[in-house]
Amino acid sequence: MRTQVGIIGAGPAGLLLSRLLQLQGIDTVVLENRSRDYVEARIRAGILEEHTVQTLVDAGVGERLQREGLPHDGVYLQYPGVRHHLDFPSLCGRRVWAYGQTEVTKDLISAQLDDGPPLLFGVSDVVPEDVDGDAPRIRFTDADGVPQVLECDAIAGTDGFHGVSRPVVTAGTSGRLWERTYPYAWLGVLADVAPSTDELVYAWHPDGFALLSMRSPSVSRLYLQVDPGERIEDWSDDRIWEALATRSALEGWELQTGPITEKSVLPMRSFVSAPMRRGRLFLAGDAAHIVPPTGAKGLNLAVADVTLLAGALTRLLAEGRSDLVDTYSDRALARVWRCTHFSWWMTSMLHRAGDDFDAELQLAQLRRVCGSEAAARELAENYTGLPVG
Ligand code: FAD
Ligand code: DHB
Repeated sequence: MRTQVGIIGAGPAGLLLSRLLQLQGIDTVVLENRSRDYVEARIRAGILEEHTVQTLVDAGVGERLQREGLPHDGVYLQYPGVRHHLDFPSLCGRRVWAYGQTEVTKDLISAQLDDGPPLLFGVSDVVPEDVDGDAPRIRFTDADGVPQVLECDAIAGTDGFHGVSRPVVTAGTSGRLWERTYPYAWLGVLADVAPSTDELVYAWHPDGFALLSMRSPSVSRLYLQVDPGERIEDWSDDRIWEALATRSALEGWELQTGPITEKSVLPMRSFVSAPMRRGRLFLAGDAAHIVPPTGAKGLNLAVADVTLLAGALTRLLAEGRSDLVDTYSDRALARVWRCTHFSWWMTSMLHRAGDDFDAELQLAQLRRVCGSEAAARELAENYTGLPVG
C-alpha cells in the first residue's frame, strides 16, 4: 500500500487532517485501532470555538453542525449568591457553539466513508518506521489479521495521549515533557433532561466545582469536581443530582433533573511534549498535549494543530517546500502553551483545593472577572479562541 500521508488515529485530529488534505489533492490513509461504533460513541468535549466551526464548515462537513449546533453568546460564572453572565460578542466579537465531539466525529467519518480516502478501523500493531528519512512507512495488521505495510511521504501521529507516535518522536529527538496532575477529577454525566439554563454555568462552590452544559435542547451534560480516586459506583444518580443542585444553587432558580444515561470519572492533567515533529512524523492533538477540560480547549486545540499541519504538508508535498513543516512545531506549540495557561488558570480559579486562603484568592479572582470589563475580555478572548496562525 502507498499513500502521501499516513494518518494514525481517527479522532477529530486525524479525521479532519485527512479531510483538509483531500481538499488540497493530497492522498491519505487513516488507520484506527478501534471500531467505528466505539469511536462514534466516545463521549468527550462539547464546545466548539468559532475557528473550529469555520474550519469544519469550510471543509464541507459543517452542514449538520450549522443546523443542530447551539450557538452560545456567553457563559455564566457563578459563586455563592452570584451568577454573572459574560457576553462574548460584546467583549470580543466572537461566540462558541455547543455541539458534541461525538457528532463532529460522526460527520467526519460519514464524509470520509462517502467520498473520501481510505479509513481502516480495527487495525492493530501500528508502528511508524524510518521517520528520519523521506520515505517513512507504517507497519500494521489489518482487521482481518493480515500484516500490511503502508509506504508514505509523511506520517501524522494523531493517535491521542496513549498512542504509539509520541514515543517515536521523543525517542529520536532531544525533546522535553511537561506535566501537571491536579488533585481532583471530573465526574461527567449525560442526562435526558432539557438544559436548566440558556448558557453554560461554571460554578465555584465550597463543596467543589460544578459545570452545567448541554448537548441539545433535550440533553444536558453536567460535571462535578470529585477526588481522583473516586469510584463511579459510589455515585448514585440521586447523589449526583443532589451535589449538582447544591453546587449550582441560586435563589429563584431550580436545576431540572432527569434520567442519567452515561456517567464516568475523567482525570485532569496538563501535559505538553515538544517538539511535535521528528523528521517526517508530525504529532497533532492529544498525541502531543493534554489540557484539563475546564477551558473547553482540548478538541479546539486539536483542530488548530491540524489546520497548521494541513497547510504545512500541502506546501511540502504539492510544492516541494519545507518552510512550513520546519516551523510547524514552534507555531503549534505557541498556541498550545497559550491554551495550556488558560486551561490551568480556569481550572485553578474554579476548583476547591488547598485552604481557606486559596478559596479567598479564587473568589477575589472571580469577582475581578465579573466586575472588570478588561478581566472579562481576557477570559472571553481565550475561551472563544484566539486566531490560528
Ligand atoms: P483522540 O480523540 O484521542 O483520538 C485519537 C484516536 O487515535 C482515537 O480514535 C484512538 O482510538 C486512536 N488510536 C490510539 N492509539 C492508536 C494506535 N496505536 N493505532 C491506531 N489508532 C490509535 N476536551 C474538552 O474540551 N472538553 C471535555 O469535556 C473533554 N472531555 C474529555 C473526556 C475524556 C475521557 C477524554 C479522554 C478527553 C476529553 N477531552 C475533552 C479532550 C478532547 O476530547 C480531546 O482533546 C480530543 O479528543 C483530541 O482529539 P485527538 O484526535 O487529538 O485525539
Ligand atoms: C463541556 C466540556 C468542557 O470541558 C467545558 O469546559 C464546557 C463544556 C461539555 O462537555 O459540554
